[in-house]
Amino acid sequence: MIHRMRDVVVAANWKMHTTPAEAGDLARTIAARTRVAGVTRVICPPFVGLAAVRDALAGSDPDVGVGAQNVHHELQGAYTGEVSAPMLVGLATWVIVGHSERRRDAAETDELVGRKLGRALDAGLRPILCVGEQLGEREGGEQEAVVDRQLRGALRDLGPDVLRAGGLVIAYEPVWAIGTGRNASGRDAAIMAGAIRSILTGLGWDAGADDVPVLYGGSVTSANIAEFLAEPSIDGALVGGASLKPDEMAGIVARAGLTAAARSAAG
Ligand code: 13P
Repeated sequence: MIHRMRDVVVAANWKMHTTPAEAGDLARTIAARTRVAGVTRVICPPFVGLAAVRDALAGSDPDVGVGAQNVHHELQGAYTGEVSAPMLVGLATWVIVGHSERRRDAAETDELVGRKLGRALDAGLRPILCVGEQLGEREGGEQEAVVDRQLRGALRDLGPDVLRAGGLVIAYEPVWAIGTGRNASGRDAAIMAGAIRSILTGLGWDAGADDVPVLYGGSVTSANIAEFLAEPSIDGALVGGASLKPDEMAGIVARAGLTAAARSAAG
């Protein structure tokens, strides 16, 4: 069976960094330094920076996607401080759901993450679903079981067709690698990407599981990105700290461009 060539994606998760003015400037700088054929670039600033990033890119680099870092699981209502999927339409075209920092700080469960995913898809936002184990779980050899539970919980009410049509991207982000400078090995990330696709196959995706881009996230830098992209099962990166640095993003996207070019030559 011949599969569609998977997108190579580099997504910047700025977390709780940048004022709106800083976000617009930084987005413009990063966009200008990452113009590389074949790489899908996404910038996810804080909610309050979405309009500034959208406007900064609209004039200079409209093919850089703008993403939110979270979305609420209801459409509207008495949820002080929250932002729903329909509110993001026009500001963002992507959204991160289920990031481990939200699972940790906002007690997001797999079931809640699944509802957020459904809202994102209904609103036409392309979701990046984050999964990954804690250090103790890795030490106990439970990483595949954890990701299995996270995926089954989040995808329970969503069929493969709707998820594929909505452009689902999955980011494998081992929690122990996030912000620690201790990245997973490329090999470990590839094993988990394989496990993720097997889990999807078991959920009825069949061969469609091979079409889903799987990113690695956790202490990615321009110095280690090659290790991940050397693995055919890894389709890019979800970058935190390094994504605030234009030099780092330039290096990461340049390396992603080599993978995109090699895939296109092979395809
Ligand atoms: P770091 O790249 O800072 O480790 O963060 C990864 C991450 O959480 C991206 O979503």
